[in-house]
Amino acid sequence: SPEELDARIIAAKTILGDRVVILGHFYQREEVIRHADYVGDSFQLANAALEHPDAEAIVFCGVHFMAETADLLSRPEQSVILPNLAAGCSMADMADIDQVEECWEQLAEIYGDMDAPDADGLVPVIPVTYMNSSAAIKGFVGRHGGIVCTSSNAQTVLEWAFARGRRVLFFPDQHLGRNTAKAMGVPLEHMPMWNPRKPLGGATEAEIEDARVILWHGFCSVHRRFTVDQIDTARAAHPGVRVIVHPECPMAVVDAADESGSTDYIRRAIEAASEPTTFAIGTEVNLVQRLAAANPQHTIFCLDPVVCPCSTMYRIHPGYLAWVLEGLVAGEVRNRITVPQDVADPARVALERMLAAKP
Ligand code: 13P
Ligand code: SF4
Repeated sequence: SPEELDARIIAAKTILGDRVVILGHFYQREEVIRHADYVGDSFQLANAALEHPDAEAIVFCGVHFMAETADLLSRPEQSVILPNLAAGCSMADMADIDQVEECWEQLAEIYGDMDAPDADGLVPVIPVTYMNSSAAIKGFVGRHGGIVCTSSNAQTVLEWAFARGRRVLFFPDQHLGRNTAKAMGVPLEHMPMWNPRKPLGGATEAEIEDARVILWHGFCSVHRRFTVDQIDTARAAHPGVRVIVHPECPMAVVDAADESGSTDYIRRAIEAASEPTTFAIGTEVNLVQRLAAANPQHTIFCLDPVVCPCSTMYRIHPGYLAWVLEGLVAGEVRNRITVPQDVADPARVALERMLAAKP
């Protein structure tokens, strides 16, 4: 029963004490979040992994790429544990390392030497990967002078990239790439989308030549479901409603909203509102429900009344959390995530560039 699982988790945590730190992404269900030592967005949780060098184990209640990132940032002696190994991210899977390598080769045929700076000191392309990507992809980016971003620092990271390269190749999320570049004033016609299934990514050589940001074909299956119609409906039903959406939403949705920002941006915006306010939120439903419960002075609802939760985040059932914690109590590390050394070294470089990038 849920009560028994709760009691098992609390009992194991009590025995383990400071030997273990539990990190929970905002999208986790309440039954998991209540046991987390730190709750945050993917940027905050990467920092939390870095800031706990003394814990023997980091139990990451999130998805696979987040646990890989924690492994990259933690000490080699620490084990990072993903309670359910099937908790992946469909968007991260959309940037396959072979396809990205192939894309890079095709771009090199157009742009020439990818390491050679032009008269302004800019190389032809800087690769930028969203945190929501495999360690192999982060390693690719690290080896090619690139950088990682999250939804909370995408603009800062693109500025870093434009200071070093004529163009950016941005993957996997086309929406975060497009929304961020648009907010920085990059015209849409200078953002061709690379479709790995088509020759030359489905773009003409002229489009590739004029590109400022080359987008990848990926998307988040949760956030792409939000629509402008839902925003119109919310505005009609709740005059004065404040609409905030995540930048993984399609461009038309971000444009129709009042604001867009990462999960932590959304949390802070709600908590900073001094007057009782109605908020319509375009992000994963578990977070929206938690924010609604924590802020009863406001009316808070999810833009999509039937939106599913992130189904892969949901795979972190409290039963798995109990199982990995009890494993640690018994001296057994279950579901450890380890990034191989040859991938880890360049991936860490790309992550450290992100952590050092300043607005
Ligand atoms: P943030 O945690 O950066 O807001 O991203 C949301 C998300 O989709 C995580 O997978
Ligand atoms: Fe991946 Fe979207 Fe789920 Fe985030 S919300 S983990 S991007 S599928």
